[in-house]
Amino acid sequence: MAPKSKVAIIGGAGNVGAAIAFALVVMQIPAEVLLVDVTEEVAKGQALDISDAAHLSCAKCRVGTFEEAGQADVIIITAGARQNPGESRSNLIDRNYAILKSIITKISPIKPTAIILMVSNPVDILTSIAQKLTGLPKNHVLGSGTFLDSGRLRNHLSNLLKISSSSIHANMLGEHGDSQFVGWSTATIAGAPLLDHPIMENIDLDKVEKEIANKAYSIIDAKGSTYFGIGMHVAVLTRSILNNDLRVFPVSNYHEEYDTYLSLPAVVGASGASRVDIQLNSRERTLLQESAKKIKDICDKY
Ligand code: NAI
Ligand code: 2OP
Repeated sequence: MAPKSKVAIIGGAGNVGAAIAFALVVMQIPAEVLLVDVTEEVAKGQALDISDAAHLSCAKCRVGTFEEAGQADVIIITAGARQNPGESRSNLIDRNYAILKSIITKISPIKPTAIILMVSNPVDILTSIAQKLTGLPKNHVLGSGTFLDSGRLRNHLSNLLKISSSSIHANMLGEHGDSQFVGWSTATIAGAPLLDHPIMENIDLDKVEKEIANKAYSIIDAKGSTYFGIGMHVAVLTRSILNNDLRVFPVSNYHEEYDTYLSLPAVVGASGASRVDIQLNSRERTLLQESAKKIKDICDKY
């Protein structure tokens, strides 16, 4: 019997879409995962391959139509162009705006309670555009944002401090792009400021920030694209939505004061993403404003 919850992945024939589907299966998320793509044959192949793993899981995977995707509980969008080596995410906007627009037309009418989870790049801009095109409530549309970058940061700090990444609360904030930055002032371990940890005294914070912001470029230079990391992170977000876990993640969510989507911590559950207010220091507030301006200036052209 098919599970009750439906998750559609539009762009499901591609690397990121398939990695998300596989992560949902491995994480035993009780959902029917529909792979939807313009390249139907490849989507069919991915679904057949993933279903060879899914029989060992409570998740199911099959190919789906755009109409079915509009009625899913979680609609994940991974369709579109990806960066060439050295290319910035924001450079993808023209190509991926056109693709997103055609997708929204094809999946409409969208189930009113659906949550749209944007992954395609530039993710903050496309999240904003997806909300405008669908007219869904702002909290029902979110982007994976800097959740992946924050995972990269926590992993890096974990190796330095010899503490599990799950016990380090530190986030990359702002744009999932070149203007992202570390929210050092709010980073903690066991409730204590991360920067008070003795090992952090000898760490070059600017170097860490640059290395994390550039990690995607290093992976793309080496193998052409990134997909395993985002696969797992999006599966965790999907689980939080389907289970109404109300876990806090740095995802791209709407901020009225900037009139745009960008990443700050948000509660993620069945109603999508709702912001959590945090106090940043003045350096971080300036960087956040710069990130917001960059995102909004591009959004306003579409
Ligand atoms: P890919 O080229 O492997 O897959 C893209 C898929 O989109 C293809 O299967 C293609 O047929 C499909 N597609 C194109 N137009 C479509 C349409 N109109 N309707 C349905 N499907 C359509 O690319 P990959 O590596 O999967 O990357 C996808 C996107 O995810 C890129 O924009 C990439 O930058 C982004 N990405 C975002 C990350 C994040 O942290 N937010 C992490 C990694 C990638
Ligand atoms: C990433 O950060 C390219 O946005 C993609 O892996």
